[in-house]
Amino acid sequence: MKLWGGRFTKETNQMTDDFNSSIHFDYLLYPYDIQGSIAHATMLGKQGILTKQESKEIVLGLKSILEDIQDGKVEFDVSAEDIHMNVEKLLIQRIGETGKKLHTGRSRNDQVALDLRMYVKEEIRRLDGMLQHLQQVLLDLGKEHLETILPGYTHLQKAQPVTLAHHLSAYFEMFKRDRSRLEDCYKRTDVMPLGSSALASTTYDLDRELVAHLLDFKEITKNSMDGVSDRDYAIEFLSAMSTIMMHLSRFSEEIILWCTDEFHFIKLDDAYSTGSSIMPQKKNPDIAELVRGKTGRVYGHLLGLLTTMKGIPLAYNKDMQEDKEAIFDAVNTLSMCLPVFTDMINTMQVDKDAMYQGTKTAFTNATDAADWLVKKGLPFREAHAIIGNLVLTCIEKEKNIEDLTMEELKEISSEFDESLYEAITIEACVHQRKNIGGPAPDTMKVILEEYEEYLKKP
Ligand code: ARG
Repeated sequence: MKLWGGRFTKETNQMTDDFNSSIHFDYLLYPYDIQGSIAHATMLGKQGILTKQESKEIVLGLKSILEDIQDGKVEFDVSAEDIHMNVEKLLIQRIGETGKKLHTGRSRNDQVALDLRMYVKEEIRRLDGMLQHLQQVLLDLGKEHLETILPGYTHLQKAQPVTLAHHLSAYFEMFKRDRSRLEDCYKRTDVMPLGSSALASTTYDLDRELVAHLLDFKEITKNSMDGVSDRDYAIEFLSAMSTIMMHLSRFSEEIILWCTDEFHFIKLDDAYSTGSSIMPQKKNPDIAELVRGKTGRVYGHLLGLLTTMKGIPLAYNKDMQEDKEAIFDAVNTLSMCLPVFTDMINTMQVDKDAMYQGTKTAFTNATDAADWLVKKGLPFREAHAIIGNLVLTCIEKEKNIEDLTMEELKEISSEFDESLYEAITIEACVHQRKNIGGPAPDTMKVILEEYEEYLKKP
């Protein structure tokens, strides 16, 4: 007999049960479901809606169910549909008639809304910790590589020299924003919906604030119809997770490029690489590729839930059951990607020489040559044209700018003198960019100190 079986005259068709049931994925919510029920029962007891004795019996019953699930002693029942009814059914089996009173003033609609919010809150905290760890690794690498110079690119064409610390700090900034997005999403998730009941709230005198307090929620929802049918926070969470994946994916793309024979900037540790079943020489960056690949699936979940929600009239509709697998899978994906990616970065070897040599071709100091002319008094646009001309000559002569003789330079412009050479060394290009945001080691050091402070915050 179903918990809702009273008005039915027939058994549920097996396919209906299988199709409708969510227990095979929402069992994950059991700790939240039970904690939520304990808070609800406690409140019902305090309010005199249940007797103190009934409330106590229910709480004890729920605690024993929690322990047994944790010990793997419980087998869930597909015909009981979801985690909420499975727990309630178990409770009634264990404590009898009193168990039937737990659902007073409550619906599965506000129950699932509560459980999912509790789950999201906890996962936000966990993912934030993983991001923090990744940032720590980036900071440590940055400190080591304040002076490691490599080419910076635009359009994937060598552009200007930067440092590895500077490059990694760009990712540190991205993950900082990601963490603040999670924090922001947390605020809107931290609202307690229980008491909304099915949609129109309830006639019982509930103490919703007490339930919120017991479950560590900051606020309570202010509209019962919205309370049961709001999934904005879940969409925000998926959006924040998608952005994290987008950042990891960009980073992965660079890792993949950097360990090619063409770039040769890094070597991945053997423990974080894979081989080929046919080509004995191969060492592949599968982790980075998979992180890049899995990004698509997290985006898919965001788009999926947005689409699921777009046509749903108020208030609860069963479509919303689809929210959970999307979120669970996205959380699971990030929980796998973040630690393995972090370790991969932490163990990679940097080929400083290859990075440095990379800056010596493709005229990465051309802007600095133009800036040198500007400091001599030429308007920038004119300086740009002169150096453009100079680059053409260099291409013809197969020489770098700094390898041209003074005579060759003077042929292009009489402005040139010996001091040019010093101003356009690769080191000078980096050290001269000392405004905040630039790669100059002294500047980056200040930024890394700020990161250190930032990471100390809980
Ligand atoms: N398993 C359902 C879900 O995940 C719980 C709420 C069901 N409510 C209902 N009235 N059928 O959304």
